[in-house]
Amino acid sequence: MQRSFEDLTTLFNEYLHQYSIGEEPKGLYEPAQYILDLGGKRLRPILVLAACELYGTAAEEALPAALAVEVFHNFSLVHDDIMDKAPMRRGKSTVHEKWNLNTAILSGDAMLVEAYRLLCEAPQALIPELLYSFSAMARQLCEGQQLDMEFEERTQVSTSEYLEMIEGKTSVLIGCGLQLGGIIGGGKEDALNHLYTFGLELGLAFQIMDDWLDCFGDSKLTGKQTGGDILTGKHTLLHILAKENKDFEVKLSDALSLTNPEQRVQSVKDIFIQSGAAEACKAKAQQLYQSSLAHLDKAIPKGVNSDPLKQFAYSLVERNF
Ligand code: IPE
Ligand code: IPE
Ligand code: MG
Ligand code: MG
Ligand code: MG
Repeated sequence: MQRSFEDLTTLFNEYLHQYSIGEEPKGLYEPAQYILDLGGKRLRPILVLAACELYGTAAEEALPAALAVEVFHNFSLVHDDIMDKAPMRRGKSTVHEKWNLNTAILSGDAMLVEAYRLLCEAPQALIPELLYSFSAMARQLCEGQQLDMEFEERTQVSTSEYLEMIEGKTSVLIGCGLQLGGIIGGGKEDALNHLYTFGLELGLAFQIMDDWLDCFGDSKLTGKQTGGDILTGKHTLLHILAKENKDFEVKLSDALSLTNPEQRVQSVKDIFIQSGAAEACKAKAQQLYQSSLAHLDKAIPKGVNSDPLKQFAYSLVERNF
């Protein structure tokens, strides 16, 4: 049985609705429940459930793993918002702003540990394999986040370094989510390897568009401060491509040194557009999405319709929030 993405979303939301991360001490669990209740696209848990059904197993089997992935994702956001000095997430104050830094660190830690506990609610025989995949992913995500921070201090970052960084901070969690669902679903190793690679490439496209939206999105829709990446000096693909255009290298450096933050964001955005970087980023995301589909085709068992998953993946690249 293969349910629609709408049905899988309802299934996950109902499961999440009856879940509480913890009660006492309130100072630890309220911030964790707060971030989880703020919503978000829930794309990672839905992918876990969809992957499980691709291989013929009912998504209910994968619900704890799907929740583990979403709780882990939310942990990574709480800590990411500290690192990125972000004031807003999902349209509301970030945890470290609403409470304080220590609370955001410790509530984040509790969420990380809770994600592992939830994963251990998966079918018992599969737990070692699931934990191995999840732990490898968690390490790589930290490596990606570390590179992201280190790049802020650098004057030059190449496109391939950028892609390596976003593979770590974003793609591996999407790939791993699909893999966990596929393992629980009973997929064969070769198929699951392709499913993982599909997730990696989709994740790259997803993060390139996240960077694009950070700059050009509507903060009412993204729920995040517009221009945050410019203000923290991130080497996004927009930045790298604008800088590589010799006609704009000096203009970009001048714009980035403007002291007024609003003026800086506006001038840098103008350069991203005029230099062609904005359009080139969108094209790169489309290209990665297209190439991810070749792996999806190899991951799908004969007779299974992959169109809904392709459409869902496309909606993640062509999003405005
Ligand atoms: C934000 O992820 C972090 C990135 C890897 C870009 P999402 O854009 O999936 O955030 P939510 O969960 O929908 O809020
Ligand atoms: C976040 O990347 C990656 C992780 C949380 C691991 P970003 O820093 O670009 O995500 P947003 O834009 O804050 O959601
Ligand atoms: Mg970040
Ligand atoms: Mg961030
Ligand atoms: Mg971002």
